[in-house]
Amino acid sequence: MVIYKAAVIGAGTMGSQIAQLISSSGLPVILKDTNEEALKKGIETIRRVFQGRVEKGNLTSGEMEQKLALVRGSIRYDGFQDTDIVIEAIDENVKVKQNLFQEIERICPDRTIFATNTSSLSISAIASAVKRQDKVIGMHFFNPAYIMKLVEVIPGMATSRETVDDVVALSESLKKLPIKVQECPGFLVSRLLMPYLNEAAIAIWESAQPIRMMKEVDQMILSMGMPMGPYRLSDMIGIDILEKVSDILYEAYGPRMSPARLINEMVKAKRLGQKCGTGFYSADPEKDKELDTIIKKEKMKYFLKSTPVSIERLIYPMINEAVFTLQETIATASDIDTAMMAGVGFPQDKGGPLHFADQIGIDIVLSKLEELSKTLGTRFWPAYRLKKMAVAGYLGVKSGKGFFTY
Ligand code: NAI
Repeated sequence: MVIYKAAVIGAGTMGSQIAQLISSSGLPVILKDTNEEALKKGIETIRRVFQGRVEKGNLTSGEMEQKLALVRGSIRYDGFQDTDIVIEAIDENVKVKQNLFQEIERICPDRTIFATNTSSLSISAIASAVKRQDKVIGMHFFNPAYIMKLVEVIPGMATSRETVDDVVALSESLKKLPIKVQECPGFLVSRLLMPYLNEAAIAIWESAQPIRMMKEVDQMILSMGMPMGPYRLSDMIGIDILEKVSDILYEAYGPRMSPARLINEMVKAKRLGQKCGTGFYSADPEKDKELDTIIKKEKMKYFLKSTPVSIERLIYPMINEAVFTLQETIATASDIDTAMMAGVGFPQDKGGPLHFADQIGIDIVLSKLEELSKTLGTRFWPAYRLKKMAVAGYLGVKSGKGFFTY
């Protein structure tokens, strides 16, 4: 089905950015919210993004006005009777999203695709509330959507092949990079990113000189080619968001995703990251000392020993989780690598976590994970596929075959 008309529900951070993308591609879009004020702000956001393009010389003012004219803000459902796709970006709550889909199912034509931008909820659970479950799909954009290329396309249990193909085609027409991901908690990118960020939080918690170590680790990861270190990235994402996501992943995958206690302590201390000016980092040196005190106090309380930190300790959990997702056929090996490069800036020269493992050597990755599993905890327990590859001689680049062939 060719998509001629779209609607986005929720004019907040994500909804306004998604509506901007759609209008930018030349499609008419209705932006719907229940709150007039939010709608006004959403339209302003769209104008601001286009204005930025005009200032950079990538768009003329005339073109900007044409694209803005494609966006129609509304607090009602008028115009929904002929939409081909509705993308919802409202509150992250299953019940609220189910109610919304039930409501629009009564208004939209049979052909309409119902896409959800949920970052953590089950697509199948959301779909279970409606009759046309074959039309429900996850379409997970990343923030800021006008910059981030990746879109995770997640079918639920009943989503039809046609719906998947249509959403992939739409994403491409929005100049995005759609990656098909089977439904699982955290989908692909958050599931792989979280063990890395969580390990960074555990490492600082177990460090003798936390603040110094945090800066050194961020520097070390930067020199590896990542766009920023794990502590800066955690501050950018928001410590409260990390807490929520790690709880979801722990509930789904068990002990290897055990949430770092420091994250809970930071949320309690209202160190939520960039949005409040203080997280791991702070512009105020007094707040640096406060983090040091939180860590030292908790270290004494739990009799924690200092443990060494290394690139392997942080990156290998991400590689290991990539192997778990491959085992579970959540995505293909090349899609996993592409998603991690496009979604979190995994260094291009390393080609994503699985290509990186091939470069290091599968036997080396395996034995390091086994060692970390003995010394730091079973959260490093290697995915079975690594063992199978090692014994079969799939050692990566050096043997000509690993996750990929060389
Ligand atoms: P937000 O809080 O900025 O915006 C939500 C908007 O939805 C508000 O304007 C609210 O008035 C409106 N709304 C709530 N119920 C509504 C209803 N029944 N009908 C119409 N409008 C309604 O939320 P945000 O951050 O944009 O998140 C939206 C969704 O996108 C969530 O599911 C979130 O998990 C997901 N997401 C968020 C990302 C982020 O970085 N903020 C990234 C990727 C996904």
